[in-house]
Amino acid sequence: MDALRLVTLAAVVVAAAMALAAAPTASAAPRAFFVFGDSLVDNGNNNYLMTTARADAPPYGIDFPTHMPTGRFSNGLNIPDIISEHLGSQPALPYLSPELRGENLLIGANFASAGVGILNDTGIQFVNIIRIGQQLQNFQEYQQKLAAFIGEDAATQLVNQALVLITLGGNDFVNNYYLVPFSVRSRQFAIQDYVPYLIFEYKKILSVSSSPASNYSSPDSNEMISLQIMLLKPFLRYE
Ligand SMILES: *[C@@H]1O[C@H](CO)[C@@H](O)[C@H](O)[C@H]1NC(C)=O
Ligand SMILES: *[C@@H]1O[C@H](CO)[C@@H](O)[C@H](O)[C@H]1NC(C)=O
Repeated sequence: MDALRLVTLAAVVVAAAMALAAAPTASAAPRAFFVFGDSLVDNGNNNYLMTTARADAPPYGIDFPTHMPTGRFSNGLNIPDIISEHLGSQPALPYLSPELRGENLLIGANFASAGVGILNDTGIQFVNIIRIGQQLQNFQEYQQKLAAFIGEDAATQLVNQALVLITLGGNDFVNNYYLVPFSVRSRQFAIQDYVPYLIFEYKKILSVSSSPASNYSSPDSNEMISLQIMLLKPFLRYE
C-alpha cells in the first residue's frame, strides 16, 4: 500500500509539472481548476458526509498553515493545493462547502471524495461517499450556479479554459481487490485481468467527463491530467 501510494504521488507530481508547463502563460485571471477523485485530492468534501473516510482529526493538518485538520488526507498541503499555488489561485473550495458561491465559484471547485474508485463497488465500506458518477453530476450543478452568476457564455469560457485533475484507481486495489483475502473482485479477476478491466472502466469515465453534456460544457480533454492511467500502465503485460 505504501509503495502504491508513493508511485501514485510520483505520477501526480510528474503529470502536474507537465500540465503546468503546457499551460498558457500570459492571461489576466488565473485559470479555473476542477478536481475529481479520491483521498489523494479530496480537500474537505467528506467532512460534510456521514462516513468513516474522513481526515478531520489530528495529526492530519499538523503542518498546514493553520495547524488544524481540514479534511485533507495530508499533514499539510495536498497536490491540488500545490497546483493552485502554481496557477496563482487560492485552493478551489470543496464542492460541499457553503462558502462555494459568488466570487469563489470563479476559482473552480473540488469534487473529490475520499474512498471512491473507478468502480462503484469500491469503498462501499465507507457507506456515504461521492462516487465518480455523482462527482460529475455535481460538476453539472456547479456549472448551473456559475452560469447564474456570470452568464452562460462566460461560464462556458471559464470551464473550457480550466485545468482539470482527476485521480482515481488506488482504492480499486487497496479498498476493494486487496481489502480482505478472497475479496469478491479477487475471486472474479486475476490481477493481470483486473488492471485492463479498470482501465476499460476508467476510459468510459474519462470519455463521459470530456464530452459535452446538455448545454453545459466540459473542459478540454487535452488539459485533463489523468493520473492513474500512468500508474496502471506498468501493470499491463499484454498491451
Ligand atoms: C456506476 O454507477 C453509475 C450510476 O448508477 C452508472 O452510470 C455506471 O454505469 C456504473 N458503473 C459501472 C462500472 O457499473
Ligand atoms: C440551453 O440553452 C438555451 C439557450 O441559452 C436555453 O434556452 C435552454 O433552456 C438551455 N437548455 C437547458 C437544458 O438548460
